[in-house]
Amino acid sequence: MIQPVGARITGVGAAVPASVVTNADLERLVDTSDEWITTRTGIKQRRVVSENETATGLAVAAAREAIAYAGIAPGEIDLIIVATSTPDNLYPSTACMVQAAVGAQRAAAFDLEAACSGIIYALAVGQQFIGSGTFKTVLMVGVDIHSRFLNWEDRNTCILFGDAAGALVMQAADGENEILATYLRADGTGGHLLSIPNYGTAYPHAGTTPPKAVNRYLHMNGRAIYEFAVNAVPEAVRAACARAGIRVEDIDFFVPHQANQRIIKAAAERLKFKPEQIVSNLDQYGNTSAASIPLALRDALARGQIKPPATCALVGFGGGLTWGAAIIRWTAAERQMTEGFPNE
Ligand code: UT7
Repeated sequence: MIQPVGARITGVGAAVPASVVTNADLERLVDTSDEWITTRTGIKQRRVVSENETATGLAVAAAREAIAYAGIAPGEIDLIIVATSTPDNLYPSTACMVQAAVGAQRAAAFDLEAACSGIIYALAVGQQFIGSGTFKTVLMVGVDIHSRFLNWEDRNTCILFGDAAGALVMQAADGENEILATYLRADGTGGHLLSIPNYGTAYPHAGTTPPKAVNRYLHMNGRAIYEFAVNAVPEAVRAACARAGIRVEDIDFFVPHQANQRIIKAAAERLKFKPEQIVSNLDQYGNTSAASIPLALRDALARGQIKPPATCALVGFGGGLTWGAAIIRWTAAERQMTEGFPNE
């Protein structure tokens, strides 16, 4: 019988573009106000890529920081999973581009698409490969560049999103199981509530020359996603805790997908988390989709908010619809993590 192997997170990294877009900047683009954006979402500013920045570039910068934090050589990596809904190309995968750039020559590599829940799905997949004894070291990156798919004339959506990448290194642990449990869900019947249509092969004119003008902007029913999220997040935390054999009261830190401060607050209240247990940097970066959880985790480690030992509930939700959670017992020796990003 195969003995399950424990998996733990040994590296964290993130990268954001240098260019900052403030709420005041958006007031000049659409009929909105800093007051509306701040009170309805909690966002004050976000980062947006320049013309020549790419998902791969951000992913590589985040991956390099996580690899350095873990203290491993790129050649030790067995598998790279990149969670993204906004890859540079349909193929090669962003994961293969990252593999080449970081020099992880032994690693298998693939992309995974679960929108804003992507990094939670990647954690669950990585844990399975480590748990089965197939791999010892897995690099996971969440990266999204939604600015390329936003209608900058639509105030309902353009104020919410930011571009970023976040990375985690997972390694087989001797006698420990730092990832206590994962929980994944999906409900495709709600797919139309949050989508980027007309991008793939369902759009029959994709190959015409010149390409036909088409609306391939992000579409969202904000209110419906809001209601889905405030129910999905507590459900995922409770279910993951039950799988981990712990109580919700045993969670030290709540690291939710950073979409809206009101969603985070409402979910935290339902779970009875105190304000100091909530990890949030949404005000600085907006909703960075698959990157948001490792970006927030990195920030909390750099600021000293999370200090090991700490049990953390990471929770994602988003397009698909998808949602899920991972319970991580953070016991890694505290390493130096500076607040500035290495790619800046
Ligand atoms: O990763 C998951 C991605 N998405 C989400 O998590 C989104 C979840 N949903 C939300 O965060 C919120 O629903 C929003 C922030 C998107 C919207 O907040 P809301 O409180 O649900 O507002 P609403 O959509 O009900 O709109 C209220 C009003 C509307 O005006 P009328 O029709 O009442 O006159 C909107 O047109 O606010 C208006 N509005 C704005 N006003 C100023 C919508 N966007 C803006 C804006 N500035 N940027």
